[in-house]
Amino acid sequence: MKLCFLVEENYRYDGMPVEVIRQLAAWGHQVDVLRPGGSLLRMTDLVTAGSHDAWVLKTVSGGPGLTLLEAASAAGLVTVNDARAIRGVRDKALAAAIGRSRGLPIPPTYAAATPELLAQTPESEYPLVVKPANGSSGRAVHLVAAPEGLAALGPELRGEGMLIAQPYQPNPGVDIKVYCVAGDFYATERRSPLHPDRPHPERRVPVPREVAAVAAQVGAVYGLDLYGLDVLLTPDGPVVVDVNDFPSFRQVPDAAARVAAAVLDLARTHRPSPAWCTPPSAPATAVAVP
Ligand SMILES: Nc1ncnc2c1ncn2[C@@H]1O[C@H](COP(=O)(O)OP(=O)(O)O)[C@@H](O)[C@H]1O
Ligand SMILES: [Mg+2]
Repeated sequence: MKLCFLVEENYRYDGMPVEVIRQLAAWGHQVDVLRPGGSLLRMTDLVTAGSHDAWVLKTVSGGPGLTLLEAASAAGLVTVNDARAIRGVRDKALAAAIGRSRGLPIPPTYAAATPELLAQTPESEYPLVVKPANGSSGRAVHLVAAPEGLAALGPELRGEGMLIAQPYQPNPGVDIKVYCVAGDFYATERRSPLHPDRPHPERRVPVPREVAAVAAQVGAVYGLDLYGLDVLLTPDGPVVVDVNDFPSFRQVPDAAARVAAAVLDLARTHRPSPAWCTPPSAPATAVAVP
């Protein structure tokens, strides 16, 4: 097969996706590598129909790769993940709206264009978790016990773009991080950045049945094939607080070979549109905005 990998600058030397590229080449496939953050791009000629069997992107939040992947998708090429699916999760505010409207267990989510607007969040929603809508790796994620605590966050959050706030979901202090590779699920337990006091090295754990069901639903709703989700086990069941397209797959055994095999498989298959791209069968329930 002939594949084009978009490698963002952050991942130039990273095991994921570099080892996947190496594995595909070792299997005899042609892999062209494009660095969207490291070259001038002649957009009008870059993507031509039929040039590759698929374009592949491991996204970085805010990185330029998604524009190219969307161009490839517009030219009719297969993309891994589906470019629209990545859009649906890259912005946590959009991801929350889509997920809740499709019945995923996601906390009620408020979006605010400036830190000051967060002050309008109803008091009944505290304690609050505040985070940037395009955040990653725990950056600028804060637990705010009461409205008075918001003011101190202003300087850090200004410049982070759209912010989101959610009621804190009670949990044991560890996330279940689920990794999904074309239908197979793997899980690790990792300390939540909101509970730094909990000593907890990341370790593999079996995927609880109810978590696997939620993970499968996440794939279908957003239309993702290679993805990860952060799940909190609350007294009311699993709650999804984050969805990532093409995560690190850290702790997944033989991750490079598994992901490479999945990419080949996905390049060959025609997949349906992400569920969220078609209107829901039942009218969406109105969301009460305070
Ligand atoms: N609503 C919430 N309730 C409780 N903990 C949360 C909530 N949202 C996020 N967290 C904790 O903060 C961590 C980081 O938030 P997340 O949305 O995953 O952002 P990032 O993109 O930075 O990983 C999560 O893994 C989880 O431990
Ligand atoms: Mg996360």
